[in-house]
Amino acid sequence: MQDNWESLTRECMDCRECALSQTRRHVVFGVGNPQAEILLVGEGPGANEDQQGIPFVGKAGMLLDDMLAIIGLDRTKVYIANIVKCRPPNNRDPMNVEQDACIGYLRRQMALIRPKILVCLGRIAAMRLIDPKFRITKDHGVWFDVDGMRMTALYHPSALLRDPGKRPETFDDLKSLQREIGRVCERTELNRPW
Ligand code: URA
Repeated sequence: MQDNWESLTRECMDCRECALSQTRRHVVFGVGNPQAEILLVGEGPGANEDQQGIPFVGKAGMLLDDMLAIIGLDRTKVYIANIVKCRPPNNRDPMNVEQDACIGYLRRQMALIRPKILVCLGRIAAMRLIDPKFRITKDHGVWFDVDGMRMTALYHPSALLRDPGKRPETFDDLKSLQREIGRVCERTELNRPW
């Protein structure tokens, strides 16, 4: 049977597949434009996201919005989701067993959106979606062809908050993202390229 947003959202909201469901306040399903050509994938909700049910609404989210604005993007032009949809306690990394339980929801979101470009935010998403051996310090900004999509990873905005020294590299990665969007996307309007 063909999948659809309504049943996917309902199943995800009711999910009890892993222990994170016992401590969550909200399932953080995803936000943005379901017709976007660009999908951004983070790692998992933090405290603010758990409280509001929306991805990237804390400090890291504000920085993400600024990063998008640099290249003329905003939340109406992309879709934003996470590897896991419920908050790992104390902001720890989501465990493999939790990622395994949850990844099907993201895969279904990917199948419905069919993005041309997928941007992993941080190493957890890159290791899950691009390559288990992905090294964020070495491989950020590199482009990969995966399942008919162009994929790359940026440093996670939280990492950029912790270490502003990584920002110049991320600026270059954003320029590369802007060029790639200009090359492969047909409907996404951007700022003028550098
Ligand atoms: N960090 C993430 O990876 N995802 C969010 O939604 C918020 C912070």
